[in-house]
Amino acid sequence: MTETPQHAFHGGASFDAIGSDFGDLARRSTIVDADVLDAWYEPAPAVLATLREHLPWLVKTSPPTHGDGLRAAIAARHGLSPGHVILGGGTSALMYLAFPRLVRRDDTVAVLDPMYSEYRHLFEHVLGARVVGCELEEARGFRPDPAAIAAKVAASGASLLVLVNPNSPTGSCLDGAGLRALLAAVPAGVRVWIDETYVDFVPEVPTAEALVAGDRRVIVAKSMSKFFALSGLRIGYLCADPALVAALEPWNPPWSAGLLAQCAAMRALQNYAWYRERAAETRVLRAELAAAIGAVPGLVPFPGVANFVLFATERLPAGELVARCRAHGVYLRDCGSLSPRFGARYVRTAVKDRAGNARIAAALAAASA
Ligand SMILES: Cc1ncc(COP(=O)(O)O)c(C=O)c1O
Repeated sequence: MTETPQHAFHGGASFDAIGSDFGDLARRSTIVDADVLDAWYEPAPAVLATLREHLPWLVKTSPPTHGDGLRAAIAARHGLSPGHVILGGGTSALMYLAFPRLVRRDDTVAVLDPMYSEYRHLFEHVLGARVVGCELEEARGFRPDPAAIAAKVAASGASLLVLVNPNSPTGSCLDGAGLRALLAAVPAGVRVWIDETYVDFVPEVPTAEALVAGDRRVIVAKSMSKFFALSGLRIGYLCADPALVAALEPWNPPWSAGLLAQCAAMRALQNYAWYRERAAETRVLRAELAAAIGAVPGLVPFPGVANFVLFATERLPAGELVARCRAHGVYLRDCGSLSPRFGARYVRTAVKDRAGNARIAAALAAASA
């Protein structure tokens, strides 16, 4: 009998090399942690300056209990009210806050396949729901097809659709028109959770946050981990209909977002233009990395719009390729755990800075030789 896993599998194996006892943090500079999708750049200078200047106070002081200032600032960016926003210690915490109150055992939930695997794990293994995968076709570069997704949702009787846009690990994306087409085609009464962890990397795709003011079905999950380079602090938020926010907020513990996190998030939002410049650089670095991967015989990168590259491995099984790269201190993600449809054929790498990308390309070339 196979045991139900307690947790979804994630990247982060690089902490095996660094040491999760943090005994020698200098070890972090010896490896390339491209198995997780953390930003290759540091937080904006204004963020770091504030944290450095006030660090002891920020560490020892209780934060605003429910993050009212940050909620108001987030809401104001897209014409929402603070009552549209729930704050938490990362969107992961908010998923575990919201879904037990939205999904009952034996409900049907639709997700994209492949997609970030925490959702399927939570629905299937923690909440006991039935999960239906809306299969994205490899031949279409895994691009989501609004009509096909809506048809699958309707046929399955799902009460909730979850999509990650841009999707991970594929890097494919619905643009504004595609998202509107999907929302128009999904049966009325089906909630649509849009995870926008990577959307800010794509200037031509607007965030769906403003949509929650006019469509009560829509819930937008915004991690501030990746684009704002705040993964270690744990901060994220949901935008949703105020009635839903009011129903969920009583379950949100006091101080669920720490003071360092609230303060850094506020400064980061104030410096959005600086981060957009990093997104433009990321696009260039991504193109260079994808070209370098494509130059290695047997590796085929997929087009994508975010800070990572999905590539097929045609000669070596993904696990073998990842293990060989690890011997070079380069940590990549074998995508087998993200969807059974991937088999042993897909690997994902984060985009790093130029030096990091050169190490990734060199490790892949050596591993494939
Ligand atoms: C698509 C997606 N959603 C959510 C998360 C979790 O983000 P957070 O750090 O806000 O918990 C991740 C993290 O990798 C992710 O890739």
